[in-house]
Amino acid sequence: MIVSTRTLFEHAYGNYALGAYNINNLEQAMGLFHGCIDSQAPFIIQLSKGARAYTDKSMLEAIIRAADVIFPEALFAVHLDHGDEKTALECIESGFYSSVMIDASHDPFEENVATTKRVVEAAHKHGISVEAELGQLGGVEEDIAVDEKNANLTDPIEAKEFVDQTGCDSLACAIGTSHGAYKFSGGQGIHFDRVTEIQKLLPNFPLVMHGSSSVPQDEVARINAAGGTMGAAKGVDPAQYLPAAKLGVCKVNIDTDGRLVWTRVHREFFRDKPAEFDLRPPGKIFMAEYAKFIASRNVLLGSAGQLEASRAHAASKK
Ligand code: G3H
Ligand code: 13P
Ligand code: ZN
Repeated sequence: MIVSTRTLFEHAYGNYALGAYNINNLEQAMGLFHGCIDSQAPFIIQLSKGARAYTDKSMLEAIIRAADVIFPEALFAVHLDHGDEKTALECIESGFYSSVMIDASHDPFEENVATTKRVVEAAHKHGISVEAELGQLGGVEEDIAVDEKNANLTDPIEAKEFVDQTGCDSLACAIGTSHGAYKFSGGQGIHFDRVTEIQKLLPNFPLVMHGSSSVPQDEVARINAAGGTMGAAKGVDPAQYLPAAKLGVCKVNIDTDGRLVWTRVHREFFRDKPAEFDLRPPGKIFMAEYAKFIASRNVLLGSAGQLEASRAHAASKK
């Protein structure tokens, strides 16, 4: 069942985080739904601009609608990931999305506020919630001088001003993570001191962590053993998801790790069966492996086992 992102956040806040997983095709959708049912977790399914353009947005939306029928037990929200204003407004009008992200974080503060405000006004008229972003995610490396390093992180005072001025419903904060497979060179990780400061100024306000993939080292090793040439990739320590959740991080975005599962499965399959040309056998392996991966992440996020309690909370809000 598709529910509002707001309802999912209300139940999760301070206790666990929802996995927000990007999908691009039906195999990812099937793996995701299976993994979340197996681990009894509510979740967020998110579509990026690139995903919507990969085939056609209506194709992906139809896959999600079909999954909702195939898995009646599932409890999830549908979210636009990294939207620009035009795409966010289009998704709001479509009536299909539970929430949208407006990502104007590359613009100066005032412009970010103005754009986010316009999207919030449109979204709230339709009962849809809005995730905005403040700060710049990037490769924050441990060998960069402290001032320079912190310059990329979300400023807590600005975060409070931004939320007050825009009326957004959740905030993606730059807290040391970055997108993709190459996040950290060494002992770097989430800046918990920064999350703590933000939560102090924005109590009970849902925070979002982008760039949360863990880039499992065994996955990278298997990809490389099967012909890949991935460099020294490193991600977020997944044992840090739950401590972050306790500080108000309600949504943890994971995309890259799913792509690594896909790459490992397909590289190994065609390495071991070079005469094979059927797409279904590796597709089946991928769906099962992705389901296992999702379930393992939900355990670390603390969302595993929360399905029925979250459903009861959603029902009480109707
Ligand atoms: O943060 C970006 C997400 O991983 C989506 O990536 O734009 O390649 O679909 P994408
Ligand atoms: P990763 O690249 O770490 O998976 O982050 C995904 C993300 O933030 C999607 O918005
Ligand atoms: Zn992101």
